[in-house]
Amino acid sequence: MSVAAIVPAAGSGRRMEQQEKKPYLHLLGKPLLAWVLAVLDKTPEVHCIIIPVCPGDEMRCKQEIVDPLGLRTPVVIVAGGAQRQDSVRNGLAAVPDTCDTVLVHDAARPLVTCALIQTAIAATRTHRATTLAVPVKDTIATVDPAWTVLDEIPDRSRLVSIQTPQTFAKDLLREAHRAAVVDGVTATDDTSLVSRLGIPVAVVPGAYSNIKITTQEDLAIAAALLEQGLL
Ligand code: C5P
Repeated sequence: MSVAAIVPAAGSGRRMEQQEKKPYLHLLGKPLLAWVLAVLDKTPEVHCIIIPVCPGDEMRCKQEIVDPLGLRTPVVIVAGGAQRQDSVRNGLAAVPDTCDTVLVHDAARPLVTCALIQTAIAATRTHRATTLAVPVKDTIATVDPAWTVLDEIPDRSRLVSIQTPQTFAKDLLREAHRAAVVDGVTATDDTSLVSRLGIPVAVVPGAYSNIKITTQEDLAIAAALLEQGLL
């Protein structure tokens, strides 16, 4: 098995309410994207890293983040797209023929560990598609546009919060992205695209510490988790 890691990093980070784009925001003195790349680089199973970035930011990403890290793993920086799905699709086009497995991990989850990545990769030996996830802690409801609770509240014991990394047989993920384009479907992650084909996606236990940096307070939470050694 040969794994290519795609790290979508082409988001605008609008919900951070910062001038700076999210992958370049600092967490304890290091850009978010650099945290992710350093962990992937320490994972021997990962043979190459592909980073979709905002179109026009390719050189900035290379000079400010990739080059200073001096990684052992070959890195390819590609232009991302308007939606995360477009960015991953562009990344998929750059996966070398020698790789048969693709791991997708968001640049916005800097607290991922080698152990979590290895757990995800190990699961691909028995499953063609996997995602990390954790049981939800809150009760989850669907609301209407006026924020009134709709329908029955789902049974919490059957709900999980989906994380990355997610891993896929390369051909399966390519097929899922092709089908999404043909069907005009947009989804927030790759598990959604594979699952809608009727292919089972195995859920692998993730970690509550593997948070996604979305709003300002997430950066403070991530810093506290790191400082307290809670990964
Ligand atoms: O928007 P969301 O929080 O779901 O983004 C998850 C990840 O996808 C982030 O790492 C972000 O940089 C990336 N992304 C992307 N291209 C986009 C939008 C988001 O690579 N057009």
